[in-house]
Amino acid sequence: MSLPQLPPFFYQIFESLPRQGPGSSEATRKVWSLLPSVPRDAKILDVGCGSGTQTRDLAALTTGTITAVDIHQPFLDKVDAWVRKAGMAHRVKTICASMDALPFDKGSFDLIWSEGAIFIVGFEKGLNLWKPLLKKGGYMVVSDADWFEPNPPEELRKWWESEGYIPVPEEEMKERVKRTGLRLVATYRLPEAGWWDNYHVPMLALTAELRKIHGKDPGNAALLDAFEHEADMYRKYKRWYGYTFFVMQKV
Ligand SMILES: C[S@@+](CC[C@H](N)C(=O)[O-])C[C@H]1O[C@@H](n2cnc3c(N)ncnc32)[C@H](O)[C@@H]1O
Repeated sequence: MSLPQLPPFFYQIFESLPRQGPGSSEATRKVWSLLPSVPRDAKILDVGCGSGTQTRDLAALTTGTITAVDIHQPFLDKVDAWVRKAGMAHRVKTICASMDALPFDKGSFDLIWSEGAIFIVGFEKGLNLWKPLLKKGGYMVVSDADWFEPNPPEELRKWWESEGYIPVPEEEMKERVKRTGLRLVATYRLPEAGWWDNYHVPMLALTAELRKIHGKDPGNAALLDAFEHEADMYRKYKRWYGYTFFVMQKV
C-alpha cells in the first residue's frame, strides 16, 4: 500500500512545531492513568511518534522500553537528540518505518500507543494491522478525530472531506473497535487546550512568520492558507468534532 507523499514545505513547517498534531502532555498522562495495569518492564511501541512529545511523556510514566516509529527521519533525529541528552538510550530507540509495514514479530509489545497518526492508514485498518503485534492482554491506545455531535454543519463536513478525511461519530468509532475484537476499556476526549496550546497557536505564529518569506510563492502560500483555515474551522466548529483517545485491550 502506498501512503500519500507530502511536499517538503509541509515537513519544514511541522519540524518547527512542538508537536505535529493536537495533543498535550496532560492528556497523555490522563489516558495513561486509564490503563488498568502495565508491567513495570513494559515493551511499548509509539507509532507515528513525530518529534516525540508523547514519547518523552511515556518515558516519564514508565520504567519500560519504548520503540518510537515514524516515516520521517528528521522527526526521529529530534527524538534521538533527546535520547542522547537525557541518557535514555537503554530505554528508548527509534525506527524509521511505515505504520502499514511495521518490522516487528507478532506478540512483541505490551502496549501500542499512537497519538494523532492512525488516520494515515485508517482507524479500523490500523487497529487490525497493529493488533497482532500486541501480546495477549496487552493494550492499545490511539487518538483520532471524530464527530462529538450529530449532524455537523455542511461547511465543516465539506472541509474535512477536502482534507481527505471523513470523520464518523464517536459511537461508530466504538463499533469499529468492537469489529476488530479489541476490548474497549475507556475513551477520553482531548480537551480544547490540547488543540490550541501545542498545535494551532504555535502553527499560527509560524505561518505568520513564514508568510513574510514564502507568501509570494503560490504553492507555499496555499499551504499556509490551509493551516490558518484549519485553525478557523476549529475556532468556529470545535463543539462538533475533536480527538478521542481509545484505550483498548487485546483479549
Ligand atoms: C499528525 S502527526 C502526529 C505526531 C505525534 N504523534 C504527535 O501527536 O505530535 C502524524 C505523524 O505520522 C507520521 N507518518 C506519516 N505517515 C507515516 C507512515 N506511513 N508511517 C509512519 N509514520 C507516518 C508523520 O511523519 C507524523 O510524524
